[in-house]
Amino acid sequence: MPRLVAVALASLLAVTLTACDPYPGAGVIDTVGAVRFDTALPIPPLATSTVTASGTRVFDLTARAGSTALVDGAETTTWGYNGDYLGPTLVANRGETVEVDLHNELAEATTIHWHGMLLPASEDGGPDSPVEPGATWKPSWTIDQPAATLWYHPHPTGETERQASMGLAGMFIVRDEAEAALDLPRQYGVDDVPVIVQDVRLDDANQLSRDARGYIGPIGDQLAVNGAIGPYFDVTTSAVRLRLLNGSAARTYNFTFSDARGFSLIATDGGLLDTSAALTSVQLSPGERAEIVVPMAAGETVVLRSQDVDLGAIDRIEERNAGADSLDVLELRAADTLTTSSFAAAELVPIDRLALADASVHRRFVLNDMRINGMAMQGGKVDLSVASGSTEVWSVVNSMGQPHSFHVHGVSFQILSIDGSPPPAELSGWKDTILTRPSVDYELIMTFTSKPDEQHAFMYHCHLLSHEDAGMMGSFTVVAPGKATLAQGGMSMGG
Ligand code: C2O
Ligand code: CU
Ligand code: CU
Repeated sequence: MPRLVAVALASLLAVTLTACDPYPGAGVIDTVGAVRFDTALPIPPLATSTVTASGTRVFDLTARAGSTALVDGAETTTWGYNGDYLGPTLVANRGETVEVDLHNELAEATTIHWHGMLLPASEDGGPDSPVEPGATWKPSWTIDQPAATLWYHPHPTGETERQASMGLAGMFIVRDEAEAALDLPRQYGVDDVPVIVQDVRLDDANQLSRDARGYIGPIGDQLAVNGAIGPYFDVTTSAVRLRLLNGSAARTYNFTFSDARGFSLIATDGGLLDTSAALTSVQLSPGERAEIVVPMAAGETVVLRSQDVDLGAIDRIEERNAGADSLDVLELRAADTLTTSSFAAAELVPIDRLALADASVHRRFVLNDMRINGMAMQGGKVDLSVASGSTEVWSVVNSMGQPHSFHVHGVSFQILSIDGSPPPAELSGWKDTILTRPSVDYELIMTFTSKPDEQHAFMYHCHLLSHEDAGMMGSFTVVAPGKATLAQGGMSMGG
């Protein structure tokens, strides 16, 4: 081809690409210094429960539409559980049997999924467990996992992003004796504070809009924390424990403080670290949690902020996927005198380390387009089966230049390595969700503790909710040893 023609074609192609770029993003958003912090941080109420004669703790949740004054003088339609926006915080102890009765008062089907919970697949609330309008679903299970910050949200086929973005999300705190024995702030709403972060965008009529999107999905230009825009929290203690939950559909945050102060990371998705980590920032992709303890001095003010996100992509892709944004999140205002809260927990709870030698099967998951190993989610089809009680290594690689993430239901995993190196502190404990940076190899190890059940499946998927809705999800069953399948790139590890 003559050189001139080639150049002309190339520039034509460039123009065309820009003109119909399906993922233009939302522009770089910077709200640092521009947030007014004029709303007291709402603390989600603790869910009430009753205990049956046989000792089951029963919660009641009603999913319904409501309305919230997100900005002065306007009502925004929002959805919530037992309220107008978000849901109450459920608290239960390890060893307890719980039942949660979900009543669906929405005009459409929903499901309720217990993100991070180790439970039977039949109670997991994935896409195979729709609850029709007017119906009630009563999952029940015995809590058998370490103290952790878990959460719940809907998971209906193709509608998860919209339903969660309307406000269907809440926290589920598991407590246990090992955590209770530590010197940690744990007074709910006082020095142990849920921080549910979601980005929102209001249209001209002040209604929630999901129109501005990057490849990752909808990108909001404001933050709602526990359902309030521009929140402040009055700190009354010398240390405050924040349970950070990224409840956003698509946006990743890198949480840090306006004065770059250090804090202690004490827990990740599935529970406490074995040793607290001194950090100045912690990054969370959608669905991930972190518990941090922040030191506070009398009379001071400091802002929790998100900046310097690293999605692992090239600059242009970072910019279009909210990776270059800087956002003020929450202002902490310390009282003039603070109650001393003793936080002396460098050593937390020992973690039983899973080792490569414990694993009997190795599987590989390639994330590409809105597919996992080239397959899209198909309702009712089971992609693979794992043996109850077995340990497997799952290698996950995102083969695109765009960000994705990976979440597994019904199990907590440990990260053996990232591109062959040991994980950093914030990825060294129990996890159920990770950001998968482009072309990086994540080697996960996990033991499937659920009882065999061939009838009900767990899911694994990208937790960018629009990707999940587009079918970037697979399903697996936990079955009796001997019935596991090696499909989907599975490889027996000998023995
Ligand atoms: Cu947070 Cu499959 O979900
Ligand atoms: Cu989940
Ligand atoms: Cu994805």
